[in-house]
Amino acid sequence: MKLFAYSLSILLISVSTNSFAASAFAGKAKAAQVCSQCHGIKKTSAEAPFPPLAGRDEAYLEKALKQYRNKTRKSDIMNNIAAGLSDRDINNIAEYYSRLKP
Ligand code: HEC
Repeated sequence: MKLFAYSLSILLISVSTNSFAASAFAGKAKAAQVCSQCHGIKKTSAEAPFPPLAGRDEAYLEKALKQYRNKTRKSDIMNNIAAGLSDRDINNIAEYYSRLKP
């Protein structure tokens, strides 16, 4: 029963995060889940092993992710990752990273 209540609260939390429209908050959740493994969130960009995203131009990030998604820009890793992103995810993530201090 305790476990059930616990799962229910997790479910409610995820439902409420999903209801945020294009927002840096939702972008952050997604970035923390998926992108931070490679691009880093807390590290300064200079220390990150992959191209830095923090403080980059929002329109640039959006364009890059859409190019990865439709495979006009090739990268085995990023083509796979971008394939799972919706337009809203891309907007949220681009907004989040563009506001992050490099
Ligand atoms: C498994 C590691 C990995 C993960 C996870 C990952 N990336 Fe990447 N990302 C890379 C690599 C490697 C490149 C460089 C690819 C290339 O040569 O174009 C890259 C490139 C990029 C670029 C282009 C940067 C530039 O300077 O043009 C963007 C934007 C980007 N990633 C966004 C994201 C976002 C957003 C996520 C999460 C949804 C994510 N990445 C998750 C490895 C990763």
